[in-house]
Amino acid sequence: MTLKTPAPTPASSKARPHLHQHSHETQAFGQLVKLPIALGEQVCSGSVDLLNQLLADTMTLRDLYKKHHWQVSGPTFNALHLLYDKHFDEQVLLVDLIAERIQLLGGITLAMGADVGEVTMIPRPPRGREEVPVQLSRLLEAHELIILATRSVATAAAESGDLGTNDLLAGTVLRTNELQVWFLSEHLVAMPLVKAT
Ligand SMILES: [Fe+2]
Repeated sequence: MTLKTPAPTPASSKARPHLHQHSHETQAFGQLVKLPIALGEQVCSGSVDLLNQLLADTMTLRDLYKKHHWQVSGPTFNALHLLYDKHFDEQVLLVDLIAERIQLLGGITLAMGADVGEVTMIPRPPRGREEVPVQLSRLLEAHELIILATRSVATAAAESGDLGTNDLLAGTVLRTNELQVWFLSEHLVAMPLVKAT
């Protein structure tokens, strides 16, 4: 007598992941879907546009810090390697705060690197390694561009009644960037190491 092998059970269609799905966007970039936060559509839309520019620049600065964290070399390697990573972590936080402000204002955030690269005002660095003073001045120039924009967007937000955006920018984004500028700048002075001049 031969044993009959049971027929294989067909995989349950419920358990199988449905891959390769495509559909239309539920909200186009640039389109506003207002939430009930007692702010006019014009106000929200104006803040969203300005914040997306600031987001693109902040994401670029964040990535510049990681590039320099990996590529730094020389006698100050350890100090800068650690400092760059600390600043990177702080910029990651700012990126999330700015992006989520855009979403709660009813907008859509820029998100992907290719899109950010098209929008940012910060000059693109070379792929290769650069000397420490070049890394530092590149970072300082990026910070100054962001600080200038942050003050101007914070002022515009206050004038239009968007106090939440004003608070985020003046209270967190601006002060974080200013503090990071101080820490970087003190590495870019010609201080003698052994003998006073
Ligand atoms: Fe690391």
